Formats: sequence, C-alpha cells, structure tokens
Amino acid sequence: MYEQMNQVYIEDISKYVGERVTISGWLYNKRSSGKIHFLIVRDGTGFVQAVASKSDVGEEAFELLKGVTQESSLRVSGTVRADERAPGGFELLMDGVEVVQIAREYPISLKEHGVDFLMQYRHLWLRTPRQHAIMRIRAEVIAACRSFLDNNGFLLIDAPVLTPAACEGTTTLFETDYFGDKAYMSQSGQLYMEAAAMAFGRVYCFGPTFRAEKSKTRRHLMEFWMVEPEMAYVELDESLCIQEQMVTYIVRQVLSKRQRELQTLERNTDILEKVSPPFPRITYTEALDILKQNGVELEFGDDFGGGDETILASQFDRPVFVTRYPTKAKAFYMKPDPDNPEVVLCADLLAPEGYGEIIGGGQRIDDPELLRRRIEEHNLPIEAYQWYLDLREYGSVPHSGFGLGIERLVAWICGLDHIRETSPFPRMLYRIYP
Ligand code: 4AD
Ligand code: MG
Repeated sequence: MYEQMNQVYIEDISKYVGERVTISGWLYNKRSSGKIHFLIVRDGTGFVQAVASKSDVGEEAFELLKGVTQESSLRVSGTVRADERAPGGFELLMDGVEVVQIAREYPISLKEHGVDFLMQYRHLWLRTPRQHAIMRIRAEVIAACRSFLDNNGFLLIDAPVLTPAACEGTTTLFETDYFGDKAYMSQSGQLYMEAAAMAFGRVYCFGPTFRAEKSKTRRHLMEFWMVEPEMAYVELDESLCIQEQMVTYIVRQVLSKRQRELQTLERNTDILEKVSPPFPRITYTEALDILKQNGVELEFGDDFGGGDETILASQFDRPVFVTRYPTKAKAFYMKPDPDNPEVVLCADLLAPEGYGEIIGGGQRIDDPELLRRRIEEHNLPIEAYQWYLDLREYGSVPHSGFGLGIERLVAWICGLDHIRETSPFPRMLYRIYP
C-alpha cells in the first residue's frame, strides 16, 4: 500500500525530483500567508518544507491545514522540487494532505527552554534537530566500536546485567533482591570478559552498566553503556596501541559520515581532525608533577578529580594516556608493576577539552595467590569470586582489557556541555523520569 502511494523518506528525497511522493510525519513548524501554508514536516530521517497553496490543495484541505498544530501527525503528498533556497535544498509542492491527528498544545515551543523543563519532557525533546544530531552520532559511535572490534578478531560475548559480586568497588552498587539473595546491577562486564577471553582469546561485551554514584557532575550518569574488550596474551602496552587505533577509527568514522550532524551542533572539528596515533603517554607520577606546575598539590595515592583531568588533558593536542596509578587507588584485580609494586599496570585515557576519562583499563592479576590476597584485602566475599579465581588456576595467562564509556566519548565528539544529552533517557542523580 505504501508503495502505491510512493511513500518515501525525507533523507532520500533527492532521488525523487519531479515525482509525486507521500511523506508520513509530523508538523515541526508552520508559517502561513493568506493563500499559502509553508509547513516544515519531519519524518525522523529529516526535515522538509512542504508548500500548500490554496489552488493546488483545494479549499477544504487548505482550511484543514489552518488548524494543524505543532507535532500534529500528517501525510503530505505532492511533487518534489529542487530549490536552493529551501532548507535542505528540496521542497514538496503539495497537492494533498491527510491529517492523522491534531496534536494538543505542544509544551516544547521553538523558543528557548530551561534544561530542567526539557528533561521533564525528554520523551518529546528527542524530536528536535539538535537531539537528532546527537542520537545519530551516538549510533555512529556504537557502530564504529562494533565494526572496529568485529573486523579485528574480537568476538562479541554478552555479559550478564544481574551479578552476585562487585567489579568496581562496593560503594557504587545498585542492589536488588534475587529470590531472597542479594544481587547487583552490573558495574562492568569485565570479570566475565576475562572468563570469555580465556575461552576465545579476544572478546568484547557491549551493554548497559550501573553505578550508584552520588556525584552530580557533568560527566556522571547512573546508567551508561560501555564497550569492554578483553584480550588473552596481551600486556598493557599492546592494549594501549589497540585503544588509540580504536578511538581514532571511531572519530574518523563520525567525521566522514556525520558531518551534517556535527554542523548542526556547531562543533569545531579541528581537534577531532588531529586525532591520530600515537597518543601521548604519561605516568601517574609525571601527572602529579604537571599538576604541581599548575598549582595543584596532590599526594601520591590521591585520585584525580575532574578539574585535575582537565588540566592534564589541556597539555596535549590529542587524548592522553595516564598510566601506572597507585595500587591503593585502583580496583582489586589490577596487576602490580613488576618494577614497582606501589603502582599498577593500568591506564586511563583522558579526552581533550575537559571531557575527562573516556577509557579505563589495564592488565589483570594472573597469579592466583596474589589475586586471592587482593580480594581479601578489599574485604570482598571470596565465595562470590571463586569462579574468577578458577581462571587463574586453569591455564592462567597475562591478559588485559579496557572499558570505553559511550556517553563520555559522545559528549566529547559532539562538544556538549553535559553528558545528559548523550543518552536518550538519562538516569541521573535524583532523576529517573521519564
Ligand atoms: O574506569 P571504569 O570504572 O573501568 C571499569 O569499569 C573497568 N572494569 C573497565 C574494563 O577494564 N573492562 O569505567 C570505564 C569507563 C570510564 O572511563 C568512563 O568512560 C565510563 O566507563 N564511566 C562512566 N560514564 C558515565 N557515567 C559514569 N558514572 C561512569 N563511570 C565510568
Ligand atoms: Mg576509571
């Protein structure tokens, strides 16, 4: 039936110049003079101007269009015309319309609104060009992550969301009841990826992760999506090479496929164009010195705050790896540096322009005795980690992995002030609606 109507999508409209087509969508905006309505119609793939003159659409349809409100659903039919002056370069000379529903008065007008108001109407806010641009870039980032890994010998292995044990410390766990036992929403799929890496060599998971983090910053969400590659027989340095190739690939894919969206966001892409390997590498200890030169006095063992990461990243023109953090500041599974057990073989990748850590990763402990000791030192219940310890008993090998936070990466690539717009329905401190 759609074919009969020559139903097309706005993103394909350039192929139909001179033809009669139908577009099914919603009214984004309308301007009227006595004899002509100019409708901006959106269908999810784009926006197009549809022009309805009284003589072409007839008296009845013309009157009907007078009452069509913002976000009313409608089908417009007419002939496609190329016109440089029209937004997008094409317009539809209408000869017919079918109004599906007249929308009630729409809360989001085309004027400015405060962020709290827009978040309350996130389900409607998603209909605007800026949100379209961000969601398309997000989808492109995810597609690029997946194609990079799929094409480089990594097997997708899904990690569970309900878990019996913590991965990233017990202070940020969302707890739930599992038929009388405690279970937790996954903070990271890493531990399961380590099992998968021992089974398949190179693997990754991609899924939602949860942190009950009582931090109200522009970089934190309670629920975010993470890509977590894990590799057997790979040590820290090789893992960093893979990370910089992967990030470069993602940025280039977005630059080549989502120029229009970057323009919608008015993103200055100079710094994105500079992204290419190798990324600089500094140690945690060198980072302390840089901070000191910039007036920030931290002691060995302190973790970096958002402001500290911004200072560090601003010293470089591309993302920078900070390696070898103090053992006591990091997770239980991290392998100590054989040359200095005070630090671990880990690295955070800090994005330029104040976006902070986009990747955290490192080499894992492969010795069963040391791992057991660490679990105890961190006061974690050993029973819940027995399976994880098994991995070190049955053919243990050096292995490394990392976790890339999709929303942080998207926030940086899009140049957003706050991470909230990178998620279609962000879970934030004190906000779980809609
Ligand atoms: O540094 P994190 O905590 O590392 C891990 O979870 C490891 N187990 C990953 C691994 O090695 N497989 O988190 C990794 C990344 C961060 O670099 C950041 O990009 C993102 O996840 N992230 C968050 N993004 C948004 N909101 C939060 N609350 C985040 N916490 C971490
Ligand atoms: Mg981290």
